[in-house]
Amino acid sequence: MNYTQPMLKEGSLKDQVIVVTGGGSGLGKAMSTYFLELGAKVAITSRNLEKLQNTAKEMQEKTGGEVLSVACDVRNSNEVENMLQAVLEKWGRVDGLLNNAAGNFISPTERLSPRAFDVVLDIVLKGTKNCTLIFGKHWIETKQKKATVLNIVTTYAFTGSAYVVPSAAAKAGVLAMTRSLAVEWAKYGIRFNAIAPGPFPTKGAWDRLLPGDLKEKFDMSKKVPVGREGKHQELANLAAYLMSDFSAYINGEVIVIDGGEWLQGAGEFNMLKDVPEEMWDMLEKMIRAKKA
Ligand code: HXC
Ligand code: NAP
Repeated sequence: MNYTQPMLKEGSLKDQVIVVTGGGSGLGKAMSTYFLELGAKVAITSRNLEKLQNTAKEMQEKTGGEVLSVACDVRNSNEVENMLQAVLEKWGRVDGLLNNAAGNFISPTERLSPRAFDVVLDIVLKGTKNCTLIFGKHWIETKQKKATVLNIVTTYAFTGSAYVVPSAAAKAGVLAMTRSLAVEWAKYGIRFNAIAPGPFPTKGAWDRLLPGDLKEKFDMSKKVPVGREGKHQELANLAAYLMSDFSAYINGEVIVIDGGEWLQGAGEFNMLKDVPEEMWDMLEKMIRAKKA
């Protein structure tokens, strides 16, 4: 057994109805596929219906699970209302919401137009707010005893990051919302958690964050102490656990899954990893000599 394999036991999400925004591609697709393998019914939503339908077909063939494709731009609260209604019409209930949809691209901030800044804030922060508020009100009004919201953020939600400022600001807002509602809505049985992934290559992210030869110039695996990028299944394992009842006592948490990447960038003396082993004898001698 290793991290590239499914982790939870069969049926861990049996009959749970889960909505995954941005579920037609990348990490959303990987997490949705695993939820289906564990017995969930999954609605995947995004702006591009054709893409969703192709993904749904592929996932159904792979897992034998039930998938619903719903076109929904998370920036638009009417579309989110309609998406929820479509899910309720199909399955009569919803148990989990995975806020995974995002928009992002690298740019020096001074080059951004107001609309360019807004588009990322609107998808990430407003989109997560729309889904959370609409699903949350539904759960509260229908007195559903148990529901789970899982938000995908990033490690720069707490460190900040140059060149992706709208995304950093929006993800920080999502993290604050996660922690705030974890407390406020616990009384309704709604649990909130977040995952902060490090680099997990996907076409959607890499086309916008590492275009052209930036992929080669800035090999992301070199930034990670464990020496590699993430595998989609290991993220899916964590997401399924946080969506499942096994994590019932975890609420308001953000779990980082990045091989130690952000800490490597943060620790004052972490650059000393580049000092060769043979130099340490000499350095030690120099330090000890100072005492004399
Ligand atoms: C500057 C840009 C730009 C760029 C767009 N704009 N791209 N400005 N540099 N590269 C500006 C446009 O000129 C316009 O402003 C405004 O942004 C809106 O652009 P549209 O193309 O009209 O927006 P839209 O069609 O809604 O597309 C949204 C998008 C796009 C965010 C721009 O990239 C998208 O659809 N992304 C969805 C998927 C995605 O981003 N996935 C990656 C997530 S990765 P003006 O003023 O000209 O009208 C992620 C990982 C984080 O979050 C962590 C990794 C380790
Ligand atoms: P991705 O494939 O581009 O996923 C983004 C998804 O969001 C797409 O399916 C896209 O579908 C959907 N989307 C975008 N705008 C939308 C809107 N307005 N309404 C509804 N759906 C919308 O990229 P990814 O790498 O898998 O990213 C998934 C999540 O992981 C994001 O939250 C991202 O910030 C996070 N993340 C990724 C990494 C990484 O290394 N990959 C690291 C940290 C965090 P449509 O275009 O069809 O709408």
